[in-house]
Formats: sequence, structure tokens, C-alpha cells
Amino acid sequence: NPIEPPEFNKCGTATNLNTGKPLDINCCPPVTTKIIDFKLPPVGKIRVRNSAHRVSAEYTAKYNAAIKAMKSLPDDDPRSFKQQANVHCAYCNGAYDQPGGGKIDLQVHNSWLFFPFHRWYLYFFEKILGSLIKDPDFALPFWNWDNPKGMTIPPIFLDSNSAIYDVNRNQAHLPPAVIDLGLTGNTDPLQVVSNNLTIMYNEMLRGNSSVYDFMGKAYREGDGPNPGPGASERGSHTSVHVWVGDTRTPSGEDMGNFYSAGRDPLFYVHHTNVDRMWVLWQYFLPSNKVPDKRITDPDFLNAAFLFYDENAQLTRVTVKDCLDNLSLGYEYERIDLPWIDYRP
Ligand code: C2O
Repeated sequence: NPIEPPEFNKCGTATNLNTGKPLDINCCPPVTTKIIDFKLPPVGKIRVRNSAHRVSAEYTAKYNAAIKAMKSLPDDDPRSFKQQANVHCAYCNGAYDQPGGGKIDLQVHNSWLFFPFHRWYLYFFEKILGSLIKDPDFALPFWNWDNPKGMTIPPIFLDSNSAIYDVNRNQAHLPPAVIDLGLTGNTDPLQVVSNNLTIMYNEMLRGNSSVYDFMGKAYREGDGPNPGPGASERGSHTSVHVWVGDTRTPSGEDMGNFYSAGRDPLFYVHHTNVDRMWVLWQYFLPSNKVPDKRITDPDFLNAAFLFYDENAQLTRVTVKDCLDNLSLGYEYERIDLPWIDYRP
């Protein structure tokens, strides 16, 4: 059977997965009994997510205003930045058990739920931002770390007076430091860029012989957590988290630790690029060894999550409703993929 959404009223203590110790912060969401089912919205104008390295000053101001509005909501509002960040902690740090009375942690990483869960998370985060600034077409940017032109922290995140700033970042990795997708520690920027492109080529093309190699392993009701991540989750995705996390903090905060990652606005633009990798893989890359890129297993399609929507209504969503980004009303700016022929 598919993984069922968590019971918010049974949310408990979360664990710091980097140290194995219980967390002293409460990352459980507000509880409500009313749950609505998500309905795919009529698709009108498609929201376009643009590269964070290329956005205009005008867009940046709007984006900052939206995050600022989210940060100004009361802490107990499920749409507040604090609660949005806690969504990640609750779903990823063992605060929930799988429903049904057992004691098995619910975990959305390291399995085929990774891409769908984060797509939904970003969908609602973006919708909330849009509703706060009364711009239903608002779209998040993405951190284009797979392209040499995007391989630094996007400069718009560096202004310490802005809402999208976060102090807990590795100070040695601010621009012009080049993202190191292999965490090699190499400091020659040209070698790092070349290594990054090789990694992308392997994760997106060469390394996958089945849909599960890319998406992650099956994860069903009653299964223990972490059956196995897909190539992109295991590789570039995790490296970006670790690389941004602050070495001055006790355990990799903010980006380098599941419970705190959502506190850095960079998290959401890192994950839009991760989501973009899914779109590219699904629709734009040659099939190679994986002629069928769909998972048709009902335990995948019917897995479900709960999120608060832009009207603060608790909403039940399923994996099958998020498989096509266009039906959710968004797409990504088309940017060169210099790794596509980057055979090692
Ligand atoms: Cu939920 Cu990048 O992790």
C-alpha cells in the first residue's frame, strides 16, 4: 500500500539526524481537523521560474517583499516562514510516524517520494508567496548550479538587509567560490566546474539504467525509512546542502541539516533547481537506457501528503497529481545544459 499522510495530532519530537540527538525545537505544524482534497487548478497563465542569477532588480524586490510578508506572519500561522521551514523538519526528522499505530518513522527522503514531496512543498510555498503579495503569477527563481554561469550562490542572496538573506552560511563559500558538486575540496575553479559537469552528466544521463535509479527506490506503507535515493538526490542535491551549511554552527545549520534547511531562503531555490532536474529528465533528455520514465506502481501514484495551502487550509495531495509540472501551472526558463554531452 502507499504511504499515507501523517497525523498532525500525533506529531512528536524530532531528531537531529546529524547528531542522532532529540531536537529541542518543536517543529510540529498547527493541528486542524478539516482537511480538503487538492484539485488541480484550471491552467491559465503558466508561471515561469527563472534563473536566480538572471532575475531583474524589479523581480528581486518583489521576491524579497513576498518573503518579508511571509516572515511577518505570526509564528502560529501555517503560512508563516517559520512554519514553512518547519514543514521540512517535521517530514524529515522523524517527528511523524507512519499512520496505523506502528512506530515506523515517516521519511520523505531517500526514496521515490523525494521528488514529489519537494515539488508539492515548493508549489504551496510559491502559492503562499503569490497570495501574500497579491500576485497569483508569482514564481520562485531557481539556483542554476548545473550551469557554469550559476555555480556560485546567487548574488541576490547576499544583501544582509534583505529578507532572503541568512547569516548561517559557510563564509568561505560565498561568491566567487564555485559550488563543488562532488565535495572534492578542490580549489581550482576550472577543475571544479569541469568536475561538476561530469557529475551532472552522470546523474542525469549515464548513471541511470532504470527509472528507480533516477527517482529513488520504492517506499511503501510499513517499509522502514531510507530505502535508497535516486542519483540526483544522493549527489548534487545533498552536496549543495552540505556545501552551503555553516561550519561555525553546531551541526551544519542551516542548509546542511534537514531540520534547519528550510530556514535559509536559498533552500527553496536550491530545490526548484532539483525539481527542474526532474522536469528535464522526464521531458527533455534522451531516453538512453530508460525508455519508460514513468512509475506506474499504484503505491507510488497514490502516496499522499498534507500541506497548508495559501488560504491556510490543510490540503491532501497525491503523488499522481504532481507528475506534470504544467498541470500545476509552472515551468522553467530554458537555459543551456552544458553537461548534456559532457562525457568523462
Ligand atoms: Cu528535503 Cu534538500 O531536502
